Amino acid sequence: MASPLRFDGRVVLVTGAGGGLGRAYALAFAERGALVVVNDLGGDFKGVGKGSSAADKVVEEIRRKGGKAVANYDSVEAGEKLVKTALDTFGRIDVVVNNAGILRDRSFSRISDEDWDIIQRVHLRGSFQVTRAAWDHMKKQNYGRILMTSSASGIYGNFGQANYSAAKLGILGLCNTLAIEGRKSNIHCNTIAPNAGSRMTQTVMPEDLVEALKPDYVAPLVLWLCHESCEENGGLFEVGAGWIGKLRWERTLGAIVRRRNQPMTPEAVRDNWEKICDFSNASKPRTIQESTGGIIEVLHKVDSEGISQNHTSHVASTDMSGFAGAIGHKLPSFSSSYTELQSIMYALGVGASVKNPKDLKFVYEGSADFSCLPTFGVIVAQKSMMNGGLAEIPGLSINFAKVLHGEQYLELYKPLPRSGELKCEAVVADVLDKGSGVVIVMDVYSYSGKELICYNQFSVFVVGSGGFGGKRTSEKLKAAVAVPKRPPDAVQKDTTSLNQVRSSDASALLSWPCCLFYTTAFSEDTEYSDDFSLQAALYRLSGDWNPLHIDPSFASIAGFEKPILHGLCTFGFSARHVLQQFADNDVSRFKAIKVRFAKPVYPGQTLQTEMWKEGNRIHFQTKVQETGDIVISNAYVDLVPTSGVSAQTPSEGGELQSALVFGEISHRLKDIGREVVKKVNAVFEWHITKGGNVAAKWTIDLKSGSGEVYQGPAKGSADVTIVISDEDFMEVVLGKLDPQKAFFSGRLKARGNIMLSQKLQMILKDYAKL
Ligand code: NAI
Repeated sequence: MASPLRFDGRVVLVTGAGGGLGRAYALAFAERGALVVVNDLGGDFKGVGKGSSAADKVVEEIRRKGGKAVANYDSVEAGEKLVKTALDTFGRIDVVVNNAGILRDRSFSRISDEDWDIIQRVHLRGSFQVTRAAWDHMKKQNYGRILMTSSASGIYGNFGQANYSAAKLGILGLCNTLAIEGRKSNIHCNTIAPNAGSRMTQTVMPEDLVEALKPDYVAPLVLWLCHESCEENGGLFEVGAGWIGKLRWERTLGAIVRRRNQPMTPEAVRDNWEKICDFSNASKPRTIQESTGGIIEVLHKVDSEGISQNHTSHVASTDMSGFAGAIGHKLPSFSSSYTELQSIMYALGVGASVKNPKDLKFVYEGSADFSCLPTFGVIVAQKSMMNGGLAEIPGLSINFAKVLHGEQYLELYKPLPRSGELKCEAVVADVLDKGSGVVIVMDVYSYSGKELICYNQFSVFVVGSGGFGGKRTSEKLKAAVAVPKRPPDAVQKDTTSLNQVRSSDASALLSWPCCLFYTTAFSEDTEYSDDFSLQAALYRLSGDWNPLHIDPSFASIAGFEKPILHGLCTFGFSARHVLQQFADNDVSRFKAIKVRFAKPVYPGQTLQTEMWKEGNRIHFQTKVQETGDIVISNAYVDLVPTSGVSAQTPSEGGELQSALVFGEISHRLKDIGREVVKKVNAVFEWHITKGGNVAAKWTIDLKSGSGEVYQGPAKGSADVTIVISDEDFMEVVLGKLDPQKAFFSGRLKARGNIMLSQKLQMILKDYAKL
């Protein structure tokens, strides 16, 4: 049986622990080894009076049973004093259970200011004061568990409890944000809405129900949520009578009630009401990004659905002549010179790494085949869009704070020189009226001497400037193309860097061979000195200085939780994935790329490029693994056909996808095998099944020399044999399947040396967090 949940050495502060639910929590924590601060003001259930006996009695009870506890009689409004008692008595604070509460029930029209204020003060402000007092201590020790107490009255409303409902749902809002802010310091915050018999509920519940709904049926959830092994963060639970359920938000698919070039009206809202409120196929947004994201998608939808040309406003007609005048405008030509340093900097900015020997040619000028990544072609041309280039276009009076990079096309006519000076000419190819905004299509041609090296097309979306009656499409626009409907032929992923990886994490990663597949790998629990967005900080050195990508205050003004990654950085990651997967990093095979930017990416998120091969066109889309959001959509890379080089298409001809991964591990072992062997010292035999039968056997020998990967059973004896289907293997590799769950559900079988398979499980578990 799994070991019991203990709290030995943990210091737990429970507010309002002199009776009811709080008392049950305090006793349960103490019974499991916690050092408990029993706080209670000792007044009546309306918050009148005070006294020490309530807290003293509970402390006495704990001590009688051999536990350790200290009393505190302050109001939660003096949060510092409560935490001071914990620090003075036990030297630290690990867990805060915000539980204290009172009631002042009145129908809404009869609520006095005092009834309103005292409820907010005790519940909401009290939770804030106590938590804030503990917060920095928890941050410093990189550990904390916080529990908030809400109520069904807050979630659903309840007659006579307007003051209480407001405070209780305020507490949930507080918890939601603390869960986000605390995550990186291993501080988790969750909320419960309990149902229990207590003096608080005895006025509203029948006597036998008060008896039956014991606080003891709530306490186990509180203990679990406050245990160090519990990963739950930001959850909301209803609990009572031995039942526990989790809540989440649900949102209808809704309706777009605005039509292109037409004013949005209340009548349109009324006419769509049923659809707005229809919960069929509802989505369940979990984060503010999921909630507010997708704006470009909505705007595109409005554009493609709207058909009216009914534009009558004065502003529209004057703007139209301005935009029309901009078409064909040539920007002053400019030159872009770069050295190997810039092209290496760019490669690092889009995730190339020395960890992947095949990337060396992009990051080391001494490599025999040193090359500039093809997508560096956008960098030489982007000056046309930077430095106020757009603002100089005559006739364009647009709000540049509302400019979004909508799409990008890049075509190369020969590989970029390793260094050089390119002359660039930029022209406004077209201006499109998308109703909800305007799209400026800018063509940029880059020459080395007289030779055209590359062509870029930037499509820039300016939110809110449309509706002037201009044309909606252009034959000049390079079209984005939908990806095939079948499952992708190949997937590659990279975690964008948030900051430096801890050395202990690095060695844990090394001990799991599959990690070699990744160019950068950072685990969620990496120690942070701050939220340093390394990826964006590195990428911007290639010339996009927009503070949105580095300055938190600027990002927050722009409506983002924190600085976002450059769209063109994600673009570089994805192109690299395609090049590596299907062209063996041969830059001469890269012909063109088209992408549509769909959603922002935050540094630290994992980019997952899904690829489909159709002839020499590789369709792709890029997702954020953590959210499943598509951030680059309708994209493709065109490759130069080659007779000599055969591109890797893992699903073609029924080939096992896992073969590619083993091949990749083999490559990586050449570089760091010796180190891995030292750490792992075992031979793993893999039985990869297809349709229930073993389709291939692979051996990863990490016992001798610098390791070896080969197809077939182990030449000597294997220490561990792992049986897994090709599909599940890929799911594990892509982080979609938790290896430990796969093990326990029988989808992954391991036999042989039990100690090693335990070690493997541990490694697999760490690996899945990437
Ligand atoms: P209770 O009245 O038995 O316990 C609350 C404790 O908080 C009391 O011992 C009281 O002296 C203490 N307290 C009140 N004001 C304080 C202050 N300013 N500083 C320090 N201590 C103070 O009530 P019960 O039922 O145990 O409630 C605990 C929490 O659960 C409360 O926050 C309540 O709103 C919440 N809740 C309870 C429900 C239930 O069914 N019992 C339903 C929904 C929420």
